[in-house]
Amino acid sequence: LSAHLTLDPAFRVAPVHRRTFGTFVEHLGRCVYTGVYEPGHPTSDEDGFRRDVLELTRELGVTTARYPGGNFVSGYRWEDGVGPRDRRPRRLDLAWHSTETNEFGLDEFVAWTRKAGVEPMMAVNLGTRGIAEALDLLEYCNIEAGTHLSNQRIANGAKEPHGIRMWCLGNEMDGPWQIGHKTAREYGRLAAETARAMRMIDPGLELVACGSSGSSMPTFGAWEATVLEETYDVVDFISCHAYYEEHDGDLASFLASSLDMDHFIDSVVATADSVGARLKSKKKLNISFDEWNVWYLSRFHDAEPPRDWPVAPPLLEDHYHLADAVTFGGLLISLLRHSDRVTSACLAQLVNVIAPIMTEPGGRAWKQTTFHPFAQASRYAAGQVLRVEPDSPTHETARFGEVTALDAVATHDEESGATTLFAVNRSIDRPLTLTADLRALGPVRLAEATVLSGPDHYSRNTADAPDTVAPRANADVRLADGTLEITLPAVSWNVIRLI
Ligand code: AHR
Repeated sequence: LSAHLTLDPAFRVAPVHRRTFGTFVEHLGRCVYTGVYEPGHPTSDEDGFRRDVLELTRELGVTTARYPGGNFVSGYRWEDGVGPRDRRPRRLDLAWHSTETNEFGLDEFVAWTRKAGVEPMMAVNLGTRGIAEALDLLEYCNIEAGTHLSNQRIANGAKEPHGIRMWCLGNEMDGPWQIGHKTAREYGRLAAETARAMRMIDPGLELVACGSSGSSMPTFGAWEATVLEETYDVVDFISCHAYYEEHDGDLASFLASSLDMDHFIDSVVATADSVGARLKSKKKLNISFDEWNVWYLSRFHDAEPPRDWPVAPPLLEDHYHLADAVTFGGLLISLLRHSDRVTSACLAQLVNVIAPIMTEPGGRAWKQTTFHPFAQASRYAAGQVLRVEPDSPTHETARFGEVTALDAVATHDEESGATTLFAVNRSIDRPLTLTADLRALGPVRLAEATVLSGPDHYSRNTADAPDTVAPRANADVRLADGTLEITLPAVSWNVIRLI
């Protein structure tokens, strides 16, 4: 098989947004407890934060972290999680059938984000709560001093305001599983009024209205249109959530999941723009793709919910293989390719729960296969996203019909002169010879070409063998006369850096 593309700095899509490389920390399973937070762990610092997880978080290149949910937020009382620990209540977490001890809460989360070097992104509860509680939370977080709740934050040890800019107005309110699930009109009205009131405190906040929790939701499209009719003027983003898994051994369709993500984004952009046109608005809304990942959701649905309301039970601990990481790489390509409208995204989630980082309670932390495409994309995507106009052979898939073997995007950083090509070969059995026309870049040399691939598409990393699936140098590459030629193995994620 052979494919071709062109790298030209003039073919710009939009700047790379650092917020594309966000993540998500939910009170769910072992994400918080024994994930980011585990007092008494050999690596834990004075706040009880695991240093091994902090180090891996930095290496992953995460830029933002959404908190505290997820489904969890729709039953959460934020004030349970602040103040002296011995007075914090234990509560039932209905979303995940667990007990929430509230040992870790808002102030701990913000302190953790400072240590991790990431921007906090907060969600308010619009399931069991409403405008008043969202305003209280905002006052507690962002007002410097001199009011009841800002003084309370200071008394609780956080002298400086948390300064949180980006706020999600609820979570997946279209989903019947959500506590306080609403119709689009009910949610749209509440979100609009909450946004208006929050902006009375700070007009500069960046607010996210809940879009659909998946493009297969029966209300998809209509939900966005109605919610945006109510909220268009007072929000900045509409959210998208998407999870993918391999069904019935259909690897070819699974590897092409980015087609669904492309379609999802294009549909939401079209819907948002049509509402904007009807409202005669000059404003353009962006997308916050604030939950995305590979998730074996069908296995989760088949499992019994935890019994007896345990504390931090192991939940959603998917163990990713190579093909998951390659599919995941395709999703990153889709997000980057849409940087003109997707200006924020969160990989759901960070630790233990459908996560790139895994931990043993009291023990080791290690990287899943999906860690690598994310870390490479965050490190090397810089400057402007480029259209690459790929020309590729195609193959048939059961779910998407004919799909191209090659999926690719590139970025070019004018300042450093670096160009990076991210490419996936979705063929399940054939290598792809890719040629790239580099003439428009001027004289360049190959800085590095790495590949994530292997003979077993289902091999995984474990705590004992954490580097089984990791990027290695691709020696099958040549650069001459303004043309790059490289072989991309079947089922592979590739990063080619030129300087
Ligand atoms: O990320 C896991 C869950 O997926 C989140 O809590 C919810 O928002 C989504 O359905």
